[in-house]
Amino acid sequence: MKASAIVVAAGSGTRLGLTTPKALVELDGTSLLMRVLRTLAQVQALIEIVVAVPQGAQQSARAQANAAQLQVPVKITEGGAMRQDSVRIGLELTSAEADFTVVHDAARPFATGAMFSACLSAAVSGGGAIIAIPAADTLKQVETGTIVASVPRDGLWQAQTPQAFRRKLLMAAHEWARREQISVTDDAQLLERRGLPVQVVQGSALNFKITTREDLKIAEAIARFARG
Ligand code: CTP
Ligand code: MG
Repeated sequence: MKASAIVVAAGSGTRLGLTTPKALVELDGTSLLMRVLRTLAQVQALIEIVVAVPQGAQQSARAQANAAQLQVPVKITEGGAMRQDSVRIGLELTSAEADFTVVHDAARPFATGAMFSACLSAAVSGGGAIIAIPAADTLKQVETGTIVASVPRDGLWQAQTPQAFRRKLLMAAHEWARREQISVTDDAQLLERRGLPVQVVQGSALNFKITTREDLKIAEAIARFARG
């Protein structure tokens, strides 16, 4: 099986309150982007990597890709206004030689090579697969600070990335969404809306997305602990 990886790193990191792109933020001296690139180096199926970055960050991203010394080509592109646009732009740059595409958030630096491989394997049989974890907390629906309802937790999972798909399925889904002006927060939703099955592979709480300053502190501590 041959696959392309798309790393979406084109967000502005508003909730972190930084001026530098979130993907270039360092944990224990290594950027989120570099961490993801190093993980991708362990994924056998990949024939190329496409990275979508914010305007003005292409040179820095190229320098990081060079430093990572990967065995496969790394294409760097400017992303789009929304995550979905960044994925679509990245997808357009993927080679037709790859039958599968695996999409990953640069903001999840602790994804493992095994997660990528498991997700890709599941996509081979079913067309699409995502990494997710079962919801652990009791979920409340809240309006103006008051609980309206408790949402039964049974069967609820929190979606993460990587998310892998047969390339043509994902392309068709993105083209459809663009035509119909449908916006989603992950790629699996596009297939779901088309009535296509998406498998779920259990991930890990460690594969959390760095969104807030607090997440960044936790991630820094984990990165230092992992170094020993
Ligand atoms: N992303 C992207 N292009 C966008 C928006 C987001 O490639 N236009 C990427 C981000 O770089 C990140 C992932 O999608 O890796 C998840 O997005 P999020 O955590 O929301 O990151 P940001 O959009 O950068 O953060 P914020 O929403 O706080 O601005
Ligand atoms: Mg965002």
